[in-house]
Amino acid sequence: MIKAPRGTRDLLPPDTALWNFVEATVRDVFRAYNFHEIRTPIFESTELFARGVGEETDIVSKEMFTWEDRGRGAISASGYPSRQRSVSGADSRSGSSSGSAESDRGQSLTLRPENTAGIVRAYIEHKLWERGLNKVFSIGPMFRRERPQKGRYRQFYQIDAEVIGPAAAGSQSPARDAEILELVATLLERVGITNWTLELNSVGCPADRVKFNEALRQALAPVVNKMCADCQRRAVTNPLRVFDCKVPEDQPIIATLPTISQFLDEPCRTHFEEVKAILNAVQIPYVENPRLVRGLDYYQKTAFEFTHGALGAQNAILGGGRYDGLSEALGGPAAPGIGFAIGEDRLVLSLAASAESVVRKPDVYIAPLGPGMNREAARLARELRRSGPAADLVVELGDETFRLKKSFEAADRIGARYILIVGENEVKANAFALKHLATGEQVTVPRAELARRITETGKGS
Ligand code: HAM
Repeated sequence: MIKAPRGTRDLLPPDTALWNFVEATVRDVFRAYNFHEIRTPIFESTELFARGVGEETDIVSKEMFTWEDRGRGAISASGYPSRQRSVSGADSRSGSSSGSAESDRGQSLTLRPENTAGIVRAYIEHKLWERGLNKVFSIGPMFRRERPQKGRYRQFYQIDAEVIGPAAAGSQSPARDAEILELVATLLERVGITNWTLELNSVGCPADRVKFNEALRQALAPVVNKMCADCQRRAVTNPLRVFDCKVPEDQPIIATLPTISQFLDEPCRTHFEEVKAILNAVQIPYVENPRLVRGLDYYQKTAFEFTHGALGAQNAILGGGRYDGLSEALGGPAAPGIGFAIGEDRLVLSLAASAESVVRKPDVYIAPLGPGMNREAARLARELRRSGPAADLVVELGDETFRLKKSFEAADRIGARYILIVGENEVKANAFALKHLATGEQVTVPRAELARRITETGKGS
């Protein structure tokens, strides 16, 4: 039997109803905050993540699904790589222009492990600064080769939001940071998650980082040989990343290291104070965590995570922060930005609501009774499904080969509210037997009144 690859999973009904409930709710919230949807590719050039997220991060150094794309010339007509370079088609054209010669070459590609780098790439590629401040969101799969466990998958879903634009458009303002955090709190409230904790820190600007890294190097020098191999490497290449270490034996050492808050310059400190002041004004609770540095290199100033107790070891529902230098690191103009990504898998795991409570059950099961009745039932089903947006009926259709008992069983199994019998007599009379499955009450309803009858009695039952 062929199974889904390790770390991936199928999302099946009725669970998908919960996912759709979450996505519909967040789309409503994004609309209220004037965010608009952006969709970027699921794979990007590897260099984007190496430069954007950082070579020394776990995501880039260990977890990416990367492959060398075959140049066009290496693909045979069947779509599989040919052992010899083809002499027709693409090959004979190659060399005629530098553009096609370029596309014949293989390129390193990577399934996106996160979407901030892709969105900033799109910002630069489409000169989105011309629009001023961009407030965008995206929902889709991400890929990281991590060890799978509850709440941690190799294909997982993120709901990502970013605010990015030229400084003149206000993108640098602490008001943006606070608005993003308040948006997250609203969003969690709307989907029904209450027991969250907002952990907040400022990781400073690049100048602070230089001083901090130097202090970390000094603090690590006498102890680093007692730490894991990854930390020994990080201590040299990018000491900040020592805070990503999960090895239990290293934690007592990490607890003694200096924190970034001691190295913030005046503008970073003021920015952080203002973010907190606005959060206090809008009554969003937070706890400061001076050791929160996040696992991606692009963060500057504000960094945050929302955690939830019910999730166990993988307790971060979402994370985010400010990335004021990312656009420049990717070759674009200065474009301060801030955003977050919710782990949708984890969000769904921490919901109190059950899939059963949000799934929409059929209002009516139409049971054609006897030969030739499939046509009549199809006509009725079409009428009911088109009976106007206000009616919004969910209609399930049976089959004329089913005996009445089997139709009842089918209607019960799918949780339909009514069963509607379509037999020869009913068609002649143009009035149909409509039975409420829970109460057993049966009435004969003229065709023209069916939609209203089913809709009306549906309210509240
Ligand atoms: P991140 O912290 O790497 O940040 O991921 C955000 C969230 O994605 C995590 O808090 C977690 O809920 C979820 N997540 C991460 N890895 C997995 C996994 N293997 N399985 C299930 N869920 C997972 C980012 O990705 C940044 N791009 C966020 C951001 C946006 N910063 C600024 N803008």
